[in-house]
Amino acid sequence: MRTFESIGIASLGLKIPSFFLDLKDFAQLRGTDPNKYTIGLSCHEMALCLDQHTVVDLALGAARRALMRWKGGLDQIGFLAIGTESALDMSAPLTKWVARELKISGALRSYEVKHACLGGTLALRQAYEWRCSPASKGKAALVIAVDDTLYEASSPGEPTQGAGAVAMIVDKPLIAEIDPCSHSWSYPADDFWRPIGEPYPHVNGPLSLECYNQGALACFQDCCDYTKQTLGGFLETIKGMSFHTPFPKMVQKALGALCDKSEISKGSADKAKNLFLEKVAPYLTWNQKIGNSMTASLWFSVAQNLCGRQIGEQISAFSYGSGCGAELQLLTAGPEARAAAWAEDLQDDFSQRTQLSGQDYDHFRRLNEVLKDGTSKTGLSKDEQKLRQAS
Ligand code: HMG
Repeated sequence: MRTFESIGIASLGLKIPSFFLDLKDFAQLRGTDPNKYTIGLSCHEMALCLDQHTVVDLALGAARRALMRWKGGLDQIGFLAIGTESALDMSAPLTKWVARELKISGALRSYEVKHACLGGTLALRQAYEWRCSPASKGKAALVIAVDDTLYEASSPGEPTQGAGAVAMIVDKPLIAEIDPCSHSWSYPADDFWRPIGEPYPHVNGPLSLECYNQGALACFQDCCDYTKQTLGGFLETIKGMSFHTPFPKMVQKALGALCDKSEISKGSADKAKNLFLEKVAPYLTWNQKIGNSMTASLWFSVAQNLCGRQIGEQISAFSYGSGCGAELQLLTAGPEARAAAWAEDLQDDFSQRTQLSGQDYDHFRRLNEVLKDGTSKTGLSKDEQKLRQAS
C-alpha cells in the first residue's frame, strides 16, 4: 500500500472587502423584522465589494498575506488554483489576473475551479493530490477560494450576501495536516444556478436546504464507515466542526440532522444544542460578520477553528456546492496552529472597514444594476449615470 507524505496547510491568508452593512439596517431598508435575519438566519453583517474592489483584489490580498508568512519563495510555487463562482471570463481563468500581479509564471499549473461553493475545496483537494504526486517535484501549491456574492435585490437570498477570500499554501503541514482520504457525494440538482450572462443566481431555497442536509448526512456517514466508528462517536470525539456557511442557522440545522441520525439526540434535545455551542458556534463568528462568501465561507470557519489548537487535535470541514456536491475533509492541527498568525488579517480588516448605511447600500445596488446590464431601468439620476460612465 502506498504511504502518503504528510502534506497540509503551510500558510494561510485572509481578506475581506472594506465595506459592510449591518443586517439591522438592511432589515429597516427592506421593511422586515430584523429578528428574521439576526435570529432566524443568525446573520449579523454582510461584507460588500463596491465598484473599486474586485474578486482579483480580494484574491491578491489573501494570497499576499499567505505568501508573506511562508518561508518559501515564489519560484517554489508550482501550482496555482482558484476556486470561485465569480469568474471574470468564460475562457481565461481568474488565476491569469492574480498570477500577473503576483509575478508568478514559468513551470506552473495555473487554473480556475468551478463547482458553486464547493470550488475552493475541490481546488484544495487537487492541490493536495498534486503535491503528493511526483508531478509536484517537491514544489508547493497556492490555492485561493474567493467570491463576491450578490443576490437580486429584495430576493430571499439578499440578506445572506457576503464576500471574501482565503488563500492557503499546500506544502508542509505546519498549520494543519490534510487527511489523505476525503468523503465526497454528488447528484444533479437544480437548487441554485446562474445562467450564462445573468448577473444574479436563481434559487430554489427549500430544495437547497434539503440538498445541503442530504450531502452532510451522506459525507459524515461515509467518513464514519471508512474510519469504523458510529456517527455519534465521531460527533463526540471530534474537537471542532466547520461547515460551508450560507447562513449560520443552516449549519445549526445540518448539525441537528446529524444528531438526529445518530444516537446523540436520543433522550435529550439539549445534547445536540450543547454540541453546537461547544464544537461549531465558536467558529461561526467570523462568518456572521462576513456573510456568504461562497467558496471561501467554509475556509473562514476552518481558519477560525484552527486558531490556538494544540498539535494533533482533529477538526472536520464540510463543504457543500449547489448543483450539487459535497465533500468532508478531516484536518489535524500542526505546530503553527497555536500561534494563529492569520487571525490578525481579520482583526485588521474588521477594525478598518467602513459601515454603510441602508441608503448607501441602496444607492450601491442601483448603481450596480446599471453597471451589470447597462440600462437606466433602475431609475438612476443623470449624475449617477455619469458616475457609471466614468468608472
Ligand atoms: P426566507 O424564505 O425568506 O426565510 O429565506 P424563512 O421564511 O424561511 O425564514 C428564515 C428563518 O427565519 C425561519 O427559521 C423563520 O422561522 C425565521 P426556521 O423556521 O427555518 O428555523 N424567522 C424569524 N425568526 C425570528 N423572528 C422573526 C422571524 N421571521 C422568520 N420575526 C432562505 C430563507 C434560506 C430560503 C433564503 O435566505 C435563501 O434563498 N437563501 C439562499 C439559498 C441558501 O442559502 N441555501 C442554503 C443551502 S444551499 C448552499 O449552501 C449553497 C449556496 O451557498 C450556493 C452555492 O453553493 O454556490 C447558497
